[in-house]
Amino acid sequence: MDDRTAGRELVRRLLSVVDSGRPTTNPAQDAWVTAAFTYWGLKALGVPQDSLDSFAPEFRQGMAARAAELGDVGESSPANWEKPLGTSDVHVALAALSPDAARLEAVLERARKTYEELAGIEVIWRQDCYQLPTGRTSFGFKDGIGQPAVEGSGIPGSNLGEAPLKAGEIILGYPDETGNRPPMPTPEVLGRNGTYVVFRKLHTRVAAYRSYLRERAASREEEALLGAKMVGRWQSGAPLVISPERDDPELGADPRRNNDFLYKDDLRGFKCPAGAHARRANPRDALDGEGSVDVRLHRMIRRGTSYGPMLPEGVLEDDGVDRGIIFVFAGAHPKRQFEFVKTQWLNDGIFIGAPSESDPLVGPQDGSGMFTIPQRPIRRRLQALPPFVVTRGGEYCFAPGLRAMRWLAELDT
Ligand code: HEM
Repeated sequence: MDDRTAGRELVRRLLSVVDSGRPTTNPAQDAWVTAAFTYWGLKALGVPQDSLDSFAPEFRQGMAARAAELGDVGESSPANWEKPLGTSDVHVALAALSPDAARLEAVLERARKTYEELAGIEVIWRQDCYQLPTGRTSFGFKDGIGQPAVEGSGIPGSNLGEAPLKAGEIILGYPDETGNRPPMPTPEVLGRNGTYVVFRKLHTRVAAYRSYLRERAASREEEALLGAKMVGRWQSGAPLVISPERDDPELGADPRRNNDFLYKDDLRGFKCPAGAHARRANPRDALDGEGSVDVRLHRMIRRGTSYGPMLPEGVLEDDGVDRGIIFVFAGAHPKRQFEFVKTQWLNDGIFIGAPSESDPLVGPQDGSGMFTIPQRPIRRRLQALPPFVVTRGGEYCFAPGLRAMRWLAELDT
C-alpha cells in the first residue's frame, strides 16, 4: 500500500469478498478469500500508534526479527529470504482457496477485483500452492490430519481423547484454556474475532531426504519404516501408535480413526519415537504426570499446502527445482502456540530428555544432529542429519474479523 487512502479502499473492497467463517454446506461457498495484515500493513493503513502497541510483541517485531529464536539461521536466515518477505514492504496477505481448479479461477477473480486498477496498491509477491496429485506433501506424507477441535466451531474433533479447545485459544475476544480472555488488541472492535496467522515458505530437500534414508536402510520396507519413525505416521497418514509394524492405507484414509490415539501406551516410544515430528509438535498425553506441561496451551490450527512440482517417485538426484510447503498457522497466541512449539518442541529436545536432538525432519539441522529410535534390544541412532527443510521467508499477520475490517476501512486519521 503506497498510501493509507488506497489501503483503506482495498480493505473496503475486500469486505465484499471476505466471508464469515460460518460452516457451510453450499459448494459455491467452498472457495474463499482471506485477508491478513502485517504490523507494517496496519501502520500503513493509519491505525493509531497506541492501538499498534496493543498487539502481541512478536507480531509487532515481525517474523524476520524473530529469526534467531525460531532457528532461521544460516541458509534459512532472513538475509537469504525471497524478497520482499521479511521486509516492511509486505502489508497485506490475501489467500484464495478452493477445493478444485474451476472454483479457484472464480475466487481468484474476486480477489483480483479488489486490487486491480487501484492506484497505490501493488502486488509484490505471489505464491501458487495446491495439493499434489498424490494428495500428499513433497516428502510423500499425508499432512493436515492432526487438528484440534474448537468449541463453537461446529466442526467435530477427530481425536476423541482430546476435548475441544476453548474458542479463545484460536479467536481473540473469548475465554481461553486458562479461563481468561487473552490480551486483545485495542480498540475492542479491531481485536475481537481476529486471529494471528503465521505463514512460512519452507523449501523441502526431497532428494537429500530420500538419499539419507536409502543409505541407512537395508530394504525398501526399512526405508519406509525409518521415514515413518521420523514423522510419527506412515506416508498414508496411519499413526505409528496404532499401526507400528507396517503402513495401513485404510487407517490413514479414515478420518474417524486416523487421529484417534494417545501416547499413554507407548511412553517409551517403541512404536512412535518421542523425537518424531508429529509427537514433538503435539505430544498429546505423553507429558502428563507430575510437573506436566499443559499441551492444550500449545495447540494450533494448521492450513498448510504444497508448492512446486513433485520430485518424481524414486528419483534420488536433486533436480534444482524449488518445492515445499506453505505452512500456515492460526491461533490467538503466536508466542505460546507457534513460537513455543517451534522453539521448545521442534528445535530443542530438553522436554524429551534428549537435549542434543532436534526434529529430524523439520528441525534446524547442521549435519551433526541425530535421531534416536527406541527399539529392543538396543536403540537405533540415525546420525549426521542434514537440513531437510530451509526457510525461504514468512510473515506474522493478523486476520481481523469482519467488523474490524469495516473499522479499518473507515479510519479517518
Ligand atoms: C516443511 C516442514 C514441515 C513438514 C514437511 C511437516 C509435516 C508434517 C506431517 C507429515 C505431519 C503428520 C500429519 C498430521 O498429523 O497432520 C505433521 C503434523 C504436525 N505438524 Fe508438521 N510439518 C512441517 C512443519 C511444521 C511446523 C513448522 C510446525 C509448527 C511450528 C508443525 C506442526 C505440526 C503439528 C502441530 C502437527 C500435528 C501433530 C498432531 O496433532 O499429532 N509442522 N507435520
